[in-house]
Parts: sequence; C-alpha cells; structure tokens
Amino acid sequence: MAIYLSKSDLIVAVIGAGAMGRGIAQVCAQAGIQTLLYDARDGAVAEALAAVGKGLDGQVAKGRMSADDKAGVMARFKPMAALADAASAGLVIEAIVEDLAVKRELFRALEKYLSADAVIATNTSSLSVTEIAAGCERPARIGGLHFFNPPPVMKLVEVIGGLRSDPDLADALVAFSRRIGKQPIVATDTPGFVVNHAGRAYGPEALRIVAQGIAAPFEVDTLMKESAGFRMGPFELLDLIGADVTQAVMESIYARYYDEPMYQPSAQLAVRVAGGLLGRKTGRGFYDYSGPVTAGTPTIAVAPCAKPKSVWIADEDGGGDLAALLKAAGIATTLGGTPSAHAVCLVTPLGEDCTSAALRLKLDPARTVAVDIFGNLKSRITAMKNPLTAPDALGAAVAALAATGAPVTAINDSAGFVVQRLLAMIVNVGTRIAELRVAEPADIDTGAELGLNYPKGPLALGDALGPSRVLAVLDGMQAVAHDPKYRATAWLRRRAALGVSLHTPD
Ligand SMILES: NC(=O)c1ccc[n+]([C@@H]2O[C@H](COP(=O)([O-])OP(=O)(O)OC[C@H]3O[C@@H](n4cnc5c(N)ncnc54)[C@H](O)[C@@H]3O)[C@@H](O)[C@H]2O)c1
Repeated sequence: MAIYLSKSDLIVAVIGAGAMGRGIAQVCAQAGIQTLLYDARDGAVAEALAAVGKGLDGQVAKGRMSADDKAGVMARFKPMAALADAASAGLVIEAIVEDLAVKRELFRALEKYLSADAVIATNTSSLSVTEIAAGCERPARIGGLHFFNPPPVMKLVEVIGGLRSDPDLADALVAFSRRIGKQPIVATDTPGFVVNHAGRAYGPEALRIVAQGIAAPFEVDTLMKESAGFRMGPFELLDLIGADVTQAVMESIYARYYDEPMYQPSAQLAVRVAGGLLGRKTGRGFYDYSGPVTAGTPTIAVAPCAKPKSVWIADEDGGGDLAALLKAAGIATTLGGTPSAHAVCLVTPLGEDCTSAALRLKLDPARTVAVDIFGNLKSRITAMKNPLTAPDALGAAVAALAATGAPVTAINDSAGFVVQRLLAMIVNVGTRIAELRVAEPADIDTGAELGLNYPKGPLALGDALGPSRVLAVLDGMQAVAHDPKYRATAWLRRRAALGVSLHTPD
C-alpha cells in the first residue's frame, strides 16, 4: 500500500506532550502541517502549548518570527481529547514514556482508530522499533523517527525501518523529515541506532582515563577542547546531560550488544549516580556548580624548571614536527641517534605508553617524557611521564614544550595518552557501526556531527588522522592493556592495510 506522507493536507498526530513531544509538534506546525497533540495526563497538552507559545513569543521579540507567523503556527495545533481523535492523521509520532509495554499498548490502541494506510513512528531512543511493532496488526506501517533534544533546535532525525516495515517506509520518513526542515539519516533497528551508538566512545573512555588516575576530569576536558578541537569536553558533557541519563544509555547499549567490551559502562560513574552527583541538575557532578566553576588541582605537580638549552627527540612519527616547533622556540634539538648522558629525551609514540617507548628505544626511563602528536601541538601539548621519570626531567621537558607558547598538560603514563585514546576509540566505534551495517558511512558522520556536535564524524576523523595511524594507536593500546575493548575492527584494519578512506564501501 502506497505511503502518502508528502500530501499537502497531511495531518500529523503527536502522542505525548512532554519535553520531546511538544518540540516535535512545534516543528511540524512550523512546517505548515496541521498537528494534533495528545497526552494521557490531564492538562499536559495545555501546558505544552503554553510553553511552545511562550517560546515563540521569544522568537517574535527577537525579530526572528512575525507575530502573524506565530499566530499561524499556534492555529495549526489541535489538542486531542481522546486517542480516537487521531483518526484523521496520516502520520502519528509517538513520544510517550520509554517503556516497551506501554508503547506497545498505545500502538495497538492507535491501530484501531487509524486508517489502514496511516504510519506510526516511534521516537524511542533505546527500544527496538521491531519489538514495539511486534503484536501490531500492521507492522509494515510502523517505523522510527528519532528526534534530538530540543527538537526545534536539533537538525538531525534518525529514520529507522523495523524488520517488518514496508520497504518504502524509510524513504517516506526521510522525505517527511526533509519536509519539516530536518536532516535525516537512515539507521537499521539496532541498539542506540547511530548516534547513541557512536557516543559510546567519548564518555566511557574518558571515564576510564580518570579512573586510572592518568588525568583529572578538567584536564581531559581541556585537552579535548584545546588540543583536539571538541566543543565540549567529555566531563562537561556528562554534567550537562546528567550522569544518570548517560549511565542508563551506557548500560542499555552494553547489555543489548551482549556485553561487548568496547561499550563497557563505568563502575565509577555508577557510584556517582547512586550518590546523586548527577551534574548541573543537582548542582554537582564532575564540577561544582554551587559557585563559579573552577578547574581543579592538576594531576601532576610539575617542578618549575629553567628552559633547557637542548633536548633529544626520537626520530619517529611526529618527531620532526616537534623538533621544528622546539627549534623555533630557541631550543637546540637532536633528532634520533644516541642521546647524550643527561639529555631530556622526548618520544612521540602512537598507542604506546612512555614506559614501553623508553624501553623499546633503549632510553633511560628517568630522562624520558612522551609527547602526544595527535592533538594540535600549537594549542596545547600533552607531556606524559612514566613511573620512573625524574621530577627535574619532567620539569625540563615541560619548560621546553611551554617555550613554544602552547600550554602544557602533564599526565601519568597511558598507552595512547588522552587525545590518542579518545580519538582512536571514537574512530573504532564509528567503523564498527559501518561494519554492522547500521548506516551508510556518510550518515554515520552526519549523525555524529549533528547529533553529538563532534567537529568531524568518526570516519572523517579517522581519514584525517590516517587510518593506519589510528590502527597503530589501537594495536598499541591493546598490546599494553591486553584488553579486548581496544581491538580494532576489521573495517578499520582492512582499509588501513589497503591505504584507502574509511568511507570506502565493501
Ligand atoms: N528527552 C530526550 O532527550 C529524548 C531524546 C530523544 C528521544 N527521547 C524519547 O522520547 C520519548 C519521550 O521522552 P520525553 O523526554 O519527552 O519524556 P517526558 O516524560 O518529558 O514526556 C512523556 C509524556 O508522555 C506522556 N505519556 C506517558 N504515557 C502515555 C500514554 N500511554 N499515552 C499518552 N501519553 C503518555 C506523559 O504524560 C508525558 O507528558 C521517550 O521514548 C524517550 O526515550 C527522549
């Protein structure tokens, strides 16, 4: 049966007038579509429409919308007194409580009132579209339209076809998403779809770094913003979203992928959730919001040292770039060869910790400091010590690096530093999403850019860093940690070996 979501007289019914439903209804009404709104709680629809009206008043006051346009939008809303009022709708968007049994009951009830060619789309974040549709009379007409919070602001919509959805349903929902001014991406019905799946690297790996005492939350945030170009650090993001919400997503994806180590949730975050350290909404998370937000105490107290006259740098990936920066800062450098007895030795490993790099290169660990070359060295530099690095050697290395003009963050030993670890994990999870055919490579990147606000999607990020270098980081991390969560995907390994883009299809 044909799907008619492009008809000019299409009526949309939104069920659930909470945070998401009201925003979705606003988006539809603003796109010129007559929009019905229903909620099981008395008064909820009136509250929602009052809130939408107030928001639009703000737009009018700022000159972004005319008063007539606002009146037009509000006139397109029609509150529903009962579920039966959805009968005229060609598309129903469900945004009620995230509970499988309640959603299934609603879908079955809706089918009784809707015409046979109407479509029902769920806004679920964590349930299976196929599972919600199971038991319905017309599963072919059921799909997913996953909006992001707040819907009027967030451009992205994930379109999900269930296993029993009509083959044309996803295309129809894509066209509908464009009609209401959104950027759709198509995902298969898998845990977390694209965006919540792609987000399983940044926060969880950052939590592991902090749990291992490598760097403090504010140091990880600063590095990811200043050195890796992210708009928000992982801990700022956790505090904004709420540790409870993030923990629930982490646990759901981990469980639904049957304990895939890559998605292992954080035991430390669970304790924070239990203790009510949820973030901004409780006044305290990784930062304290009861007063002006302050950074915190650095993980390593670096002894103040005079800038050394010269340093030795390992002649490996990035070593030449580091030497050029230091030379420009007036520090003599020796690239490769045997270091002199008391020289400060700088190494630039990929995925290796400072300990392993010092031993592999037969350097004195006490004089060795590692520098992360994945980040932008001109914005902020990571200096990583090993357990034996002498305080004066670390101080001298930091003084030399600071002479370039970039601020320096000193961290404890970690295979993959902070930036390499987080970027490599983001790329690896992105390639897993591609490998599992959750979405087309281009859609994976669009999802992460628009849904997670990343500067680049995971596959584009991997291409920019170089797939073989990302692979080297992951292999190095796995070699040191012996932890299967760092194993590279076949998608990444194959493309790195062939020397092609991570967007290359099979
Ligand atoms: N909040 C987010 O960031 C976000 C983002 C994307 C998707 N989602 C999904 O959107 C859905 C709604 O989330 P929300 O944050 O808007 O929740 P919410 O609690 O703000 O709103 C849910 C609304 O649904 C109503 N409701 C509950 N059961 C109902 C029923 N049987 N029939 C009609 N109305 C019913 C409630 O009264 C409430 O007003 C969930 O499936 C959620 O997973 C949420």
